[in-house]
Amino acid sequence: MTICVVGGGAGDGKTTLVELVARHLAARGRQPLVIDCNPDQNLGSYLGFSERELSAQAKIGENFSFLKTTFDARHPQLSVLMPSAPPIWSTRWWDATNSGDPVLRKFALATEDGIAFMAAGTYRTGQFGSGCYHDHSGPAEYMLTRLDDGRGGRKKQVLVDNVHGADAFGTPLYALGDVALVVASPTRKSREILALYLDKAAEVQRELGFVVPIAVVGNRLSADPARRDREDGLLREAAQGKLIGSFETDGALMRDLDSNRGPSLADLTPHNRRTLSLIEARIDVADRKWEVRRDWLNHCLGASASWANGAKGTDVTWQKSDFVPAARGHTCTDGCGHPVFSGNWPGRRPAKSNLKSEP
Ligand SMILES: Nc1ncnc2c1ncn2[C@@H]1O[C@H](COP(=O)(O)OP(=O)(O)O)[C@@H](O)[C@H]1O
Ligand SMILES: [Mg+2]
Repeated sequence: MTICVVGGGAGDGKTTLVELVARHLAARGRQPLVIDCNPDQNLGSYLGFSERELSAQAKIGENFSFLKTTFDARHPQLSVLMPSAPPIWSTRWWDATNSGDPVLRKFALATEDGIAFMAAGTYRTGQFGSGCYHDHSGPAEYMLTRLDDGRGGRKKQVLVDNVHGADAFGTPLYALGDVALVVASPTRKSREILALYLDKAAEVQRELGFVVPIAVVGNRLSADPARRDREDGLLREAAQGKLIGSFETDGALMRDLDSNRGPSLADLTPHNRRTLSLIEARIDVADRKWEVRRDWLNHCLGASASWANGAKGTDVTWQKSDFVPAARGHTCTDGCGHPVFSGNWPGRRPAKSNLKSEP
């Protein structure tokens, strides 16, 4: 399952949440993958990687060509392919459950406790003043839409650290998660940002018919029970019934200023450990609908066409697709109809193409 962590104000705890959930899943033997898609790029150091390891790491955002030829070498519009292009009949998938997979081998570093870590990268000199956050997140979004996470997403959990607040609505990424975990603290400012995020999500649903699968996680609640109850009440009201649990302020979560070293799960308060179990339970009931994801990508392609058609010199909406992996009727070895790639993929075009053809 893909879990996009968004929302909150800067410093409300998104990266900490990604780290905690990943460590919690790893402690339960689940080997999650985490991807830093925030141009502030600090998840790697939270996970304990050194500056040297991080600067040598291949960045997803700088390798769109590699990804395109890996996944869509047979795409009729390969040279002008958009990051939001949905998969088509000839797309090859990457297997996040297989440590020998070429995409994992190119981008992932591994922590000692079995977390794989990838990074989208940040702005480079030539982009100052003109670069866009989507230059980095776009290739990551494209990679996530070609992800096989095993047994319909039950085998692998992929956590994505994103930009905060309503900023996330500028790219398709926030809505690609099977769960969008929105972090908020009880402060007035953070609740206002949460309200803005929920408003934008309601607008997406009203205008586009697309439901962002939001679950809210509180952070920095007081350790004092009476005060915490009041804060919990405020957050519940702001979360409009979507609050799944909260973390309290925890000495174990205060980072070492020099090393950025994070928490050991065993040092967390019992309340915070319980919250991690609630989040894991929410992730485990997440549901993926390929049709919804495809419709979202088709919408995003249409939305970017007004500038992309000029930039690419062609109509990028031809990249829209009606392809849905399960619709191929394929039954994988797990018996669940999740997409299977390369070797097992019939190498022929179906009689009726599901990619709109160029006139
Ligand atoms: N519940 C908490 N208790 C104590 N410190 C926390 C808690 N949550 C986050 N922090 C600390 O707050 C700082 C900002 O958190 P971070 O996860 O980097 O925020 P964001 O990613 O939203 O900008 C970090 O130093 C983190 O260790
Ligand atoms: Mg962060």
